[in-house]
Amino acid sequence: MTTHDGNMAQSVSATTSEQPLLQARGIIKRFGKFVALHGVDLQVYPRTVHSVIGPNGAGKTTLFHTLTGTLMASEGSILFDGQEVTQEADHQRVQRGIARSFQVTSLFTNLSVRENLRLAAQGVHRSGAFDCWHAPTGARSHAEVVDTAMERMGLTRLAGVAAGALSHGQQRRLEVGMALAARPRAIFLDEPTSGMGVDDLDEMKHLIRGLRDDHTVVLIEHNMNIVMDISDTITVMQQGRVLVEGRPNDIRNDERVRAAYLGNMITGGRA
Ligand SMILES: Nc1ncnc2c1ncn2[C@@H]1O[C@H](COP(=O)(O)OP(=O)(O)O)[C@@H](O)[C@H]1O
Ligand SMILES: [Mg+2]
Repeated sequence: MTTHDGNMAQSVSATTSEQPLLQARGIIKRFGKFVALHGVDLQVYPRTVHSVIGPNGAGKTTLFHTLTGTLMASEGSILFDGQEVTQEADHQRVQRGIARSFQVTSLFTNLSVRENLRLAAQGVHRSGAFDCWHAPTGARSHAEVVDTAMERMGLTRLAGVAAGALSHGQQRRLEVGMALAARPRAIFLDEPTSGMGVDDLDEMKHLIRGLRDDHTVVLIEHNMNIVMDISDTITVMQQGRVLVEGRPNDIRNDERVRAAYLGNMITGGRA
């Protein structure tokens, strides 16, 4: 087995002796000549909420895509639970316990909440592909997974309702539930509150925080109140690089972060 210790300390966190669940090093992503990620390092510790924030275009979604396997990194390495996954396809990473929230379009609008979740639960055994005709092996455990996902996302009383009849906020929760149905160890949520009203926001905030009991949560979120309230660690990105990382209080008071959010008018805004 290859060792990845290199010249880097393994346990850099002062607060835990645990190994990171996810360890990305030197991630570079190019789109043609454009460099979206310039060498990003990220360490995510188990059972934490780790938020990634930054102005539009900072590279947050691209980073998520390289970590979940939607896009391949151009350079760099990604370890999940100590295993090299850098070159693996997204469905292989799902098998390892990496899941991301689905887009609204992936909900089957005329199927019920429970049926949508059941398909998602089965998907993990089918290399990520949905297959309605597949023999229902492990149906019992699927039912348990579905029940747990509904409970976690506050959807139990809506089990029989068609996904298309849900409110926007409920649909966003169902998307997170779909990712949970893959029984992930790490769940990646890209702006799960986008387009939500105030009432839905608060509920989603509590639900995401609750996920930390059983999962590791990596979250892209624009709402600063949510980020500051539920994150254990915050990584701030700007122009394809990590600008600063720390706990909510450190980030809240960081001048570089304030400058980054003042907009792109401040070029090289680290002064
Ligand atoms: N498929 C792509 N092809 C070319 N450029 C892309 C692609 N995806 C993202 N980008 C560019 O990469 C940069 C980072 O985008 P993105 O990761 O979506 O940022 P964020 O999620 O932080 O708003 C942007 O300049 C965006 O235009
Ligand atoms: Mg984005």
